[in-house]
Amino acid sequence: MNKIVIKGSVPLEGIINIDGAKNSIVALIPASILSKSIVRIYNYPKISDVYVLIDILQELSVSTKITNEYIEIDSSKIKNTPLTTTKMGSLRASYYFMGALLGLFKNTTLRLPGGCYLGPRPIDLHLKGFETLNCRYDINNELIYLQADKLIGKEIHFPFPSVGATINTMLAAVLAEGETTIYNAAKEPEIVDVANFLTQMGAKISGAGTSIIKIIGVKELHGTDYVVIPDRIEAGTYLILGALLGNPLEIHRVNYLHLYAILTTLNKCGVKTYINDDKIIVYNSNKLLPTDIVTDVYPGFPTDLQQIITTLLTQSHGISTVTETIYSDRFQNCQELIKMGANIVINDNKVIIKGRTPLKGSEVVAKDLRGGASLAIAGLIAEGTTIINEAQHILRGYSNIIEKLQNVKANIHMST
Ligand code: EPZ
Repeated sequence: MNKIVIKGSVPLEGIINIDGAKNSIVALIPASILSKSIVRIYNYPKISDVYVLIDILQELSVSTKITNEYIEIDSSKIKNTPLTTTKMGSLRASYYFMGALLGLFKNTTLRLPGGCYLGPRPIDLHLKGFETLNCRYDINNELIYLQADKLIGKEIHFPFPSVGATINTMLAAVLAEGETTIYNAAKEPEIVDVANFLTQMGAKISGAGTSIIKIIGVKELHGTDYVVIPDRIEAGTYLILGALLGNPLEIHRVNYLHLYAILTTLNKCGVKTYINDDKIIVYNSNKLLPTDIVTDVYPGFPTDLQQIITTLLTQSHGISTVTETIYSDRFQNCQELIKMGANIVINDNKVIIKGRTPLKGSEVVAKDLRGGASLAIAGLIAEGTTIINEAQHILRGYSNIIEKLQNVKANIHMST
């Protein structure tokens, strides 16, 4: 499988351009079929999840065209074919085809989603949303059958602001009869992005970005052109890298309004960042301060940067803690960091990090997307050579990561 090889401790200097948000595009691609027309999506990230979703579209007789600038999706001849391909099990976001196909055809059959192991990842809240809209479902051996005579708008109260369930309920509700109100909706920027995309296709949605989203069902949607928002997790990843090795690093094409939690955290650690419109300049800090982090739903500290900030905190002078409140098993990267010389103690849903510990180049294994990214950053700061096995995890969420890092002087390459 893919390996990434890094020769560490090289100061990094230059510009890194941020691409479109992974956690938006993986919803926009399935959502586009609701138009039964032609959609063009610009600023999409060149990540493997995008190409898997486009492959899955072919199973529905949806034609696609990919250029460097946009993805064109023509669902005018879509067929409601059961999506039983194993590709559905290769990523979590395939579950957005549930909401989109249910919304469009009122019935569908799909294989259940897969994705990074971060602890159990049920879809009970998605099903609660669909059931409330008058949908029945049945699950047996990896397949789910969704069936509604008609979808009827209702009030839905989520016990937890699930990103996926919020988006999936929106996808099912936009063509339902009547008004749907989602209470305790997720507020991530990616929710707003999907709502804006659907609105441009003719949906009637208000409140996205707040905890109450209202959707008035319409008869049909139409095609549109859309530009994906910048990926705040990719931006946060490179900001953390800049805090360690920036000489300086310039992170371009960001939306800094989505980066409040990471920017304030880096500031607390003594890192200087300079915001100028859609650019942020970050210098490495020669005396990183420790801090305590608790992940939370947006706008709190994002769980997707938890593993990556842990790498930075191994270089802070003092004791830091990171508490994970969203997933039950998102510390698998710590064992690999310890192998490289980090001093980390795992204590249930909290890690205690004693810094500063120099890291040494080692052979490590990426277990999931963001854990893999945390190891890549560790390899870039370590003395010596690091080999990251199972690096395909990293390529699922970081567009052209090798080229982007080589362009700022990192000594990094792929090998098989
Ligand atoms: C999305 O996952 C993202 N994935 C995740 O990013 C991100 O970590 C997560 O949101 C939180 O921000 C995509 O957008 C494809 P949730 P999702 O529903 O939708 C539990 C990355 O690295 N839950 O908000 O699965 C769930 O088990 C990935 O880019 C239920 O119990 O997130 C988890 O503990 C990793 N029942 C918590 O809620 C449900 O029906 C958060 O899940 C759904 C979720």
